[in-house]
Formats: sequence, structure tokens, C-alpha cells
Amino acid sequence: MTFRLAHLTDPHLPLPRARARELMTKRILGWQSWHRRRKSIHLSTVLQSVVRDVHAHHPDQIAVTGDIGNISLPSEHAAARHWFESIDKPDRVLVVPGNHDAYVAVPSSEGVALWGAYREGEDGAAPAIRRVGDVMLIGVDSAVPTPWLMSGGTVGPAQLQKVATALQSGGADGLCRVVLIHHPPLAIRGGGGRKALSDAEAFRALLVQHGAELVIHGHTHRRSLVVLETAAGGTPIIGAPSASANDRRHGDMGGWNLYEIERLAKGWRVGMICREATPAGSMVTVDTQSLPVHPR
Ligand SMILES: [Fe+2]
Ligand SMILES: [Fe+2]
Repeated sequence: MTFRLAHLTDPHLPLPRARARELMTKRILGWQSWHRRRKSIHLSTVLQSVVRDVHAHHPDQIAVTGDIGNISLPSEHAAARHWFESIDKPDRVLVVPGNHDAYVAVPSSEGVALWGAYREGEDGAAPAIRRVGDVMLIGVDSAVPTPWLMSGGTVGPAQLQKVATALQSGGADGLCRVVLIHHPPLAIRGGGGRKALSDAEAFRALLVQHGAELVIHGHTHRRSLVVLETAAGGTPIIGAPSASANDRRHGDMGGWNLYEIERLAKGWRVGMICREATPAGSMVTVDTQSLPVHPR
């Protein structure tokens, strides 16, 4: 039986009106960036086409890897919740936050807690761990408030330990372990320097030690594929474009990835289908790959 996993990321939903006092923080930078540039790149029409296309492919689970909003306003977190509800029920959608969802520190009741079960696994704490059939989804929260001009992330020691335990138990149970994280755990274009994951080295070390079948991330707004040699063999680490982009300057269009996961006698077959919006409003396949997921 084939398990179908959809991955979409970085929708950057339209910024609602903000009160002046809400902008008297680092938020003012994000607010200016939205009104100067981002609002003409992240379009609801593109996002709607992407979500319609996801639905047309009938995925078993939908992974969303952060940057749902822009400057972490309580109204953005509430709008994010409505958007998740428009996609599917919480047991079919697993969301991890991105740096824009933790743009500044907010009381937890006004923050991503509003997303409720959409960001929760089996025990409610990060990482969010879900077992669905042969697949274990591990939703890692790398979003932390950062100083002005910084957009990095941190997994943190407590979560690193829990991810290691999950990878170990998922491996022992013979599950296909898929890790969701906003920040790429590698220094790739668009995800290094002031945008990097501060404990990427420790995160990579545990992937190498315990193995994972697939790691999916956002943050760079670009497609990328790097294969990390781990205890599971080759672990593809895959970035997806923003689901709402129509960036005429760089030629980047919104898209998403579909993974078809199938158990083999030894290991897994993981097929990837990359879907992308066209400027005319249709959706097309821009790449298909059989990923190098192979047990040692
Ligand atoms: Fe983003
Ligand atoms: Fe990001």
C-alpha cells in the first residue's frame, strides 16, 4: 500500500491590519518588508491553486513546515488556524512553526498555541510525533524569537533528546521516519549565516547516528535536495518552495511536493513529485524522482 504525504511550506498568509502598539518592536521591520515587497510576492491566488492541487492528489497526511504568517501577530495565528481548517482536519495535517511564526515573543495563549491539535503529536509536546500506518512523522519546532535582522532557529537540547529517542524507536519498529523542520539542517543557499539553525551540527549528528528515511524543510523558499549519509543509508534532505510565491524578479513560483512511500522487502521506495503553479494559474509537474532511500 502506498502512503501519500504532501509537503507544503512558507505560505506567508496575507498580513492583517496591525495596531500601532503591536508594531513597536522588531515587528516594524517585518511589517515594512511585507508592504514594500512581500505582499506582491506571496499571493492568495497561488496558495489557493496549490491547496486545490494538494486536495486533488488525495494525500494521507499533509505536512506544513512553517512561516504560516509574517510577524507573529495574535490575529495571524488565528488566521493560520482558519487556514489549516480549510485544508483538512487536525489528524490529517501536521504543522511546525517557522521563524516568522515566532517573530517576537508573545504570550503562549496568543501564539502558536492557537493552532491547537494541528501542531500536536501524540503527547502534545514538541517534537510532535505521529504514527500513521508504516510512517512516523516527527515534527520538530525550530522557531525561537530572534534579535532584529536575525531569522535563525534552534532545536534545543531537550527536543534533540526526544527526536533521538523517536528516531530510535521508529527505527526499531521498522517505520519510515519522516522529519519535518522549518530550518534546513545544512548550510544551503538561503538558509545559512543569520538565517541558520544554531544547533544544526548536533541535529545532523543525531540524524547520522540514528538515521531517518526523509527530512523535509522550508525557510529558503527554494527547491533543494541534499543526501546525508546516515545509519539508515542515504537520507534525502529536501527543501520546498513557498506555497504562495509569484516572484517575478527571481522567477520563483509557488509549489509543493508529493511523496509516495511504499514498503519494500528491505527498506522503502520513496517517489517524489514536484508540483508548481504557472503564471497562468494552472499546476504542473516540474520534476519526478525516485529518492535514494536505501537501508545499509
Ligand atoms: Fe519563509
Ligand atoms: Fe523562515
